[in-house]
Amino acid sequence: MPTARLTLDPAFRVGSVDRRLFGSFVEHMGRCVHTGIYEPGHPAADEDGFRTDVLDLVRELGVTVVRYPGGNFVSNYRWEDGVGPREDRPRRLDLAWRSVESNAFGLNEFMAWAAKAGVEPMMAVNLGTRGPAEALDLLEYANYPSGTTLSDLRRSHGVAEPHDIRMWCLGNELDGPWQMGHKTAHEYGRVAAETARAMKRFDPTLELVACGSSNAHIDTFASWEATVLEHTYDFVDHLSLHAYYDPGDGDVDSFLASGAEMDRMITSITATADHVGAKLRNKKKIKLSFDEWNVWYQSRFGGEDSLDWRTAPELIEDVYDVTDAVVVGSLLITLLRHADRVGAACQAQLANVIAPVLTRPGGPAWRQTIFHPFARTAQYARGTVLRVEPDSPVVETAKYGEVPALWSVATYDEESGDVVLFAVNRGRDEEPLRLTADLRAFPGARVVEHAVLHDTDTSAVNTAEQPDRVRPREGAGTKTDDGTLTVELPPVSWHMIRLATR
Ligand code: AHR
Repeated sequence: MPTARLTLDPAFRVGSVDRRLFGSFVEHMGRCVHTGIYEPGHPAADEDGFRTDVLDLVRELGVTVVRYPGGNFVSNYRWEDGVGPREDRPRRLDLAWRSVESNAFGLNEFMAWAAKAGVEPMMAVNLGTRGPAEALDLLEYANYPSGTTLSDLRRSHGVAEPHDIRMWCLGNELDGPWQMGHKTAHEYGRVAAETARAMKRFDPTLELVACGSSNAHIDTFASWEATVLEHTYDFVDHLSLHAYYDPGDGDVDSFLASGAEMDRMITSITATADHVGAKLRNKKKIKLSFDEWNVWYQSRFGGEDSLDWRTAPELIEDVYDVTDAVVVGSLLITLLRHADRVGAACQAQLANVIAPVLTRPGGPAWRQTIFHPFARTAQYARGTVLRVEPDSPVVETAKYGEVPALWSVATYDEESGDVVLFAVNRGRDEEPLRLTADLRAFPGARVVEHAVLHDTDTSAVNTAEQPDRVRPREGAGTKTDDGTLTVELPPVSWHMIRLATR
């Protein structure tokens, strides 16, 4: 049987697990907001119109921070449209998704929802069709206590206390020609720097995110980041990364190795940011905010121009299978492996739109396959990330060359004493991969849980009728013996192995 070996040791420290790694994203797109998290009149809706069945799933998912309101949507959004009496709110065309936005849900509804979900907001401002003035108005409306026109306007809207939003995204994907208000790196760098400078004058403790590239394949990848940071380095704390992995071309081995591409992207952008820091003789380290990532069958999407003007249409409601869930698990492993530099990450999106949660209008909500690795990782990856450098058989891929079949990371929670190993077998050979882990640095460690996501039918999915067709099961035969953990990883499988050391 092919075997992979690794060593777990508390001395191999990468960094602390930032809880913001388990973020998500709510965009006014398709049915993410309307009939996703918000549906007045639904049997499970609360007094605010929020679906409590979805709220329950969001809490179970373990989401910590949620980016809002876009996405491409934010680049033609007027935040003022979404506040104040509902009957006065305008219906507007959203040019990003060729949709009609009712504005029944806006900033104050989102903040009320976030409080109920127990998540931190990550608010994006429009630097596409708008600029610093409107961003500063939003900041004053949201965060200033009272005594100015905008803060008193918020109070007159029934929100007495300031929202105190800490994390702000300076626009969205402005490198992309599809973006309303698309800009060159110099144009964006200047406007982002001036917006950030003013926002920090308002409150120097705000955390600001400058837009990085919208994907790693765009021509300006990395040079965009270098130029933008040359303008913004002094004023921003994070730089965004976005990446979607498309299973659509049938190259399953490369798709299973998507973590290799995410890994390379993080390494490249870290180097780019540090290069600019060195050039500017600035000792500050820019953190990365991987604030859009997921599996997305992009090849099935006909593009924005193919859409009709509709309100809350069904848009990119991808149904995820077992392979997709394994890839999502491997992407979370990749993010954890870079815990020293990735300070936040948001799976895109939360409900219906390429999401872990699907809903039917007036009907049920259920967990997609990708829900499970996210929920377990968010729940159990705590404390310190431990580097693991496995000696593993390799898989040959068309896109990334040879990649290790075993993709893994571990965390060590000093408080509870728990060590958790997250592992994926990216191989597709019938024979399982045997993994042995040297535990001598954790004397007495014993297995308390082994959750496995695997199915002999890798195309199995969850549906409203069969919502639990795919879910983690307890692994068999996993044991520790004389300081060694032994476990078998079937092909295309995700694992969480929890060890107690006390
Ligand atoms: O998440 C869907 C879209 O993908 C977002 O609106 C945009 O930022 C990205 O291109």
